[in-house]
Amino acid sequence: MNDYPQISQAAKLLQANEVVAFPTETVYGLGANAKETEAVKKIFFAKGRPSDNPLIVHIAHRDQLEEIASDIPDVAYTLMEHFWPGPLTLIVKKKGDAISDKVTAGLPTIAVRMPAHPVALALIEKSGLPLAAPSANVSGRPSPTSAAHVFDDLKGRIAGIVDAGETGIGVESTVLDCTTKVPTILRPGGVTKEELERVIGCVEVDHALTDERQTPKSPGMKYTHYAPKSPLILVEGQPFFLQKLVDEQRANGKTVGVLTTEERQYMYEADVVLACGSRSDLHTVASHLYDTLRQFDETDVDIIYSEVFPTNGIGAAVMNRLKKAAGHQVIHEK
Ligand code: TXA
Ligand code: MG
Repeated sequence: MNDYPQISQAAKLLQANEVVAFPTETVYGLGANAKETEAVKKIFFAKGRPSDNPLIVHIAHRDQLEEIASDIPDVAYTLMEHFWPGPLTLIVKKKGDAISDKVTAGLPTIAVRMPAHPVALALIEKSGLPLAAPSANVSGRPSPTSAAHVFDDLKGRIAGIVDAGETGIGVESTVLDCTTKVPTILRPGGVTKEELERVIGCVEVDHALTDERQTPKSPGMKYTHYAPKSPLILVEGQPFFLQKLVDEQRANGKTVGVLTTEERQYMYEADVVLACGSRSDLHTVASHLYDTLRQFDETDVDIIYSEVFPTNGIGAAVMNRLKKAAGHQVIHEK
């Protein structure tokens, strides 16, 4: 893998402080040398990302973690043992000035993960660098799960894209704060709360994830994200109730989209009906979610109604992203 020409070329660009998009098991990332402020600045510029939103550092070896973090608690080592490489980002104390302050947005902590994608690991290894990498989308757009998504958002603004097809998980990593007494989920993602609890017992969830009035502990969670171009409204109720809402809008001359699943796609009559995976396996909903939101942007719908999903397992991440995409607009069947 190390000798693939695309990887060698991308590694050289990264060493020259350029920004390059690469695949991970969750979504495509936009990588840069985490040690060099000049390189990291290019990430914020290409994405139009607010500078107070810190980045995750991607590593391929445990030794790299010890170079950039200090006072790493035992619980973090236990978690690495079980979930690395994989979609779990750990927040730990930052060490010295090995990593640019731009990466951590001036915070005393640092977010680190080891991605479970052979291309990502090979690229980190070949470049010999820790890579700062947010999702490779323009800020506010759905995260990219294919090289085509990255190209649509960032063409002309970055040095290259390593294309390895579609990513698997489709939602970003779980961000877990290990600096609190009980580890706290700041962003639900690819590793579920249930999986974490099976390994380390009790895990807390940042209150801001369940109560929108609270300020999230993870700076990035306060921004509207993943928003499609037309308003998205979540509908808690039976398909016939959702259909009634569609009919009302269409009677007013609106073009209406419905986000549903394979099981229910034939139950709706609307202008655009898109099936996002299968209800019988929420992992398939997660892996198709961002692509489905992007597909709606290719249509001329004025409004999108979406079904909701159970919030256990990976469903927690799916519903977190859907709620953000909808700006928390939910209609309940009475
Ligand atoms: O799956 C993923 O995590 C993808 C792939 C590319 O690895 N990356 C990703 O990065 O989703 P990004 O930048 O889109 O999201 C990083 C999240 C943001 O919500 C950010 O605020 C949070 O992690 N974060 C980073 N450093 C933090 C810190 N020191 N304390 C709290 N939150 C932090
Ligand atoms: Mg992102």
